[in-house]
Amino acid sequence: MSAPASQEVPCLISAADLQRRVAELAARISADYRDRNLLVVGVLKGAFIFQADLVRALTIPVRCDFVKVSSYGLGTESSGTVRLQLDVSQPVAGADVLIVEDIIDTGTTTSWLIEHIKRQGAASIKLCALLDKPARRRTTVPIAYLGFTIPDHFVVGYGIDYGERYRQLPYVGFIPPGEPQ
Ligand code: IMP
Ligand code: MG
Repeated sequence: MSAPASQEVPCLISAADLQRRVAELAARISADYRDRNLLVVGVLKGAFIFQADLVRALTIPVRCDFVKVSSYGLGTESSGTVRLQLDVSQPVAGADVLIVEDIIDTGTTTSWLIEHIKRQGAASIKLCALLDKPARRRTTVPIAYLGFTIPDHFVVGYGIDYGERYRQLPYVGFIPPGEPQ
């Protein structure tokens, strides 16, 4: 059976709601990190659109960097094993690192990443996540800045993919269970 067109993915969080929430998070981050040494580290690829919108709404100086990790194959289940595919490209030592994630699901990827950044001597580390899916959490991860808590759906859009598709959607949608994908 053929895959549904992107437009047919049902909406969970609208583009307008995403933009409103991103503005609120950016205002809080701008206030909290005033006079600090903010380094925003986005987790590729899923966080790329969220990070782009978030940093453009900040009113303070910021450096941007990226890491790329994989814990998924092409399916919808985390493999549980984290692999670093790309590390930060500038010194983390002494920086106030804000890790920007798309979704915290089991928490495996993020808790591994926090330890990885810690080992590089960051002055502080906090987490900003667009989505929290607490139903499947295996490891506790403190989310300092959270966009939305969502039910246990497989979500796509606003940077988030399913088998590399749907990242371009301006909203967060979900793949209904049992749908042809
Ligand atoms: P965790 O290690 O289980 O917390 O997985 C985190 C990563 O898995 C997220 O950063 C996403 O990249 C991916 N992921 C988790 N849930 C979903 C989903 O519903 N749709 C797409 N990717 C997801
Ligand atoms: Mg991710």
